[in-house]
Amino acid sequence: MVGLEFDRLEDGYTDKIRRWVPFYDELLQSLFTDLPADFRPKSILDLGTGNGNVTFLATQLFPEADYILVDASAKMISHCAQRFGDSDQFIYKQRYLQELSFLPASFDLIVAGLSLHHLQAGEKQELFKKLWRWLRPAGVFASTDLYVDRSQEEEHAAVLKEWERIAREQGSDTDDWEYLMEHYDKYDYPHSFEDQLQWLRDAQFADQRIVWVRGAWGTIQAIRQ
Ligand SMILES: C[S@@+](CC[C@H](N)C(=O)[O-])C[C@H]1O[C@@H](n2cnc3c(N)ncnc32)[C@H](O)[C@@H]1O
Repeated sequence: MVGLEFDRLEDGYTDKIRRWVPFYDELLQSLFTDLPADFRPKSILDLGTGNGNVTFLATQLFPEADYILVDASAKMISHCAQRFGDSDQFIYKQRYLQELSFLPASFDLIVAGLSLHHLQAGEKQELFKKLWRWLRPAGVFASTDLYVDRSQEEEHAAVLKEWERIAREQGSDTDDWEYLMEHYDKYDYPHSFEDQLQWLRDAQFADQRIVWVRGAWGTIQAIRQ
């Protein structure tokens, strides 16, 4: 179960992910760099929050907003509760994304940092339809992630090669890389930019685009009109 896997990664998570994921800090920043002018979300949902690094960035920009943080890992969620404290402004849910349910028009901004590659194709498509309903008109969904189709063998092999090169530059050693590939085979289901943009269109998002990209790593933003 992916929740238990991330329980095991909670200790020292930020150091590990900065070694493992190419351009980690830039990816997270890119969730917020190309938002519509004068966008001031009052209510923000963080999908697969981990130890809260995405929410932390959001609080720097939108200190008045209310936040709901969701993660399958009990340890990650309790880390977030310690990090952001006990107040009405932050709600913590240890929950699988597939089981989430909210009233329509609950959020202005929904963000996902490196979490949706844990969902299979059908699960992503179902979630995108729900996200559209949970957003208010003019609400924004942004997801930063690895975008590649595993069935495109040559392209996929090239992406892994480049990933390893960058991970090693960022301080990963052989043990890190072996662990990463084991984790990737067990828990990760990335899909291409094209597929995910199409699934967002299918879910009625009227405006969806890539706002940041470096190789197979990037950020998609979609607006609910
Ligand atoms: C790679 S981490 C990213 C964490 C954080 N968003 C960040 O950018 O550092 C993925 C997170 O998604 C959570 N996750 C994975 N699959 C999930 C699912 N189906 N439901 C809820 N959380 C999930 C994991 O527990 C983990 O904390």
